[in-house]
Amino acid sequence: MPTATRKPRLLFLLSGSIACYKACFAISKLVQAGIEVRTVATPSALQFIGKATLEGLTGQPVASDLWESGKAMDHINLARWADLALVAPATANMLNRLSAGLADDLVGSLFLAWEIQKKPWWVAPAMNVAMFNHPLTQASLQKLSGLGVRVLPTGEGALACGEEGAGRLLEPEQLVMHVLAELGPKIA
Ligand SMILES: Cc1cc2nc3c(=O)[nH]c(=O)nc-3n(C[C@H](O)[C@H](O)[C@H](O)COP(=O)(O)O)c2cc1C
Repeated sequence: MPTATRKPRLLFLLSGSIACYKACFAISKLVQAGIEVRTVATPSALQFIGKATLEGLTGQPVASDLWESGKAMDHINLARWADLALVAPATANMLNRLSAGLADDLVGSLFLAWEIQKKPWWVAPAMNVAMFNHPLTQASLQKLSGLGVRVLPTGEGALACGEEGAGRLLEPEQLVMHVLAELGPKIA
């Protein structure tokens, strides 16, 4: 947890959803609020937003590839570094992979290297209502929740696919509110 001598540290992980643009707003607000943010973006997330955006918002390089030279220990180092991890948007694929304990990519390895009993790991789902309500997705959410992962609620309403219902990523202001409630006000 953060001490009085340093800023709170948030590991912000993005997976491949149209809602990545909302995550960028949240990251911007969190940096302005005094949170030190580092980002991990899956290759799919980078189809929606560029590394330059995330690096520009945080002032930090973006981690994405488990095998990137010079960053081979990021899956351990970032897990040690952060006070809180937030996967937003969390895709159906991401939730199902995390719940299965797969570690063949950076996010999966980070999740297993994360000491879930000691530090919070949160997911903010974002997907089409049918994907969200699918029994496999719901089973993964339940399993993750049982392991100590905090599953943030989804919003209701218009989805990018044109349908209506659950599965909408929380609004940036709501993501910020949850993070600030956990990590506290600016302390450095
Ligand atoms: C335009 C577009 C939008 C998508 N939006 C979502 C989404 O909101 N939620 C989701 O679960 N998957 C969505 N997908 C599918 C994921 O990107 C896909 O399952 C991908 O493999 C996820 O990879 P990742 O979880 O490693 O980031 C979308 C795909 C496309 C092409």
